[in-house]
Amino acid sequence: MINFLFSFSLFSVLGWILEVVYRSFVNKRFVNPGLLSGPYLILYGFAGLILCFCANLMSHANIFLKALLYGIITTTLEFVSGVISLKLFNTRLWDYSDNRFNYKGLICLKFSIYWTALALLFDYFIYPNYMKLLDTIPISTKLIFGIGVIVCMGIDFGKVFKARFFNPEEEETLRQEFWDLAADYVKNPAILKLNDSFHHRDKTRLMHVIEVAYISFVIAKKMSLDVSSTVKGALLHDLFYYDWLREGPRLHGFRHPKISLENARKIYPLSKKEEDIIKKHMWPLTPMPPLYWESFVVAMVDSFCSFRDYIPCLRRYYFKDEIKKLLNKSES
Ligand SMILES: [Fe+2]
Ligand SMILES: [Fe+2]
Repeated sequence: MINFLFSFSLFSVLGWILEVVYRSFVNKRFVNPGLLSGPYLILYGFAGLILCFCANLMSHANIFLKALLYGIITTTLEFVSGVISLKLFNTRLWDYSDNRFNYKGLICLKFSIYWTALALLFDYFIYPNYMKLLDTIPISTKLIFGIGVIVCMGIDFGKVFKARFFNPEEEETLRQEFWDLAADYVKNPAILKLNDSFHHRDKTRLMHVIEVAYISFVIAKKMSLDVSSTVKGALLHDLFYYDWLREGPRLHGFRHPKISLENARKIYPLSKKEEDIIKKHMWPLTPMPPLYWESFVVAMVDSFCSFRDYIPCLRRYYFKDEIKKLLNKSES
């Protein structure tokens, strides 16, 4: 795990250096690549880890098979990260439109050949030496560097994300708009009943689904997605009634999306998109990837909300008064 953290951080920083040198040389001025302001590129961190995994797995494969696989992996990674930065941040980080054999300006033959050559270089020369070097680095150094870079990256990413999606001046209008959409669902006794179970620490499952639905709503709106399906799917994504820490089925993490989906079908007709949102909300823990952007957004927001619920200084409570009012009404 420590090697994993350290390698991810190191490859992110080395990737940034590689891009700075290349882009600054091409543009004849200093260029800071990527969305974040610090000296790291998340894409290279992931790519480095995947290449290490492949180099280890295919140590006996011939060079042609490796070239083919590396070409597919690096091109796919480049395409996926290009699409995500375009869709999520409205930012085109590179543009290959002027290159021949390009697709949507995000990938092109010339750079796929470059990446494949770089991946082969990594496999034959860098990886074996890196593995030897890794054993000589003290654990404390790996830990400090690995965690330090990831924390800086997280803060940096949080700032960029907040600037893109959350404008304090719009908050009141967005809250009102969200509640207009969500209140009818929350009033449903099957959903209100989620208030009887604690989900994360002192937060009830009702508070959790409302938080996930609200943040997903704000992001979906900025991305021009289907906000009503996002809100409905997010409100229904954890529709189960057992205390998951003490009871319920084994492997709860893998099985509760299906349980929630079955419960949700009993109270509402669901579109394919809404079913996908509920079914895939634990991705990437459950391996089938989301089929819609709305499902991707809810899955990411759910992970984020769950993570910050365990860090007291980050924990937030949404729509407390509105929830209280609805609960009082349902009791009287
Ligand atoms: Fe869940
Ligand atoms: Fe959840």
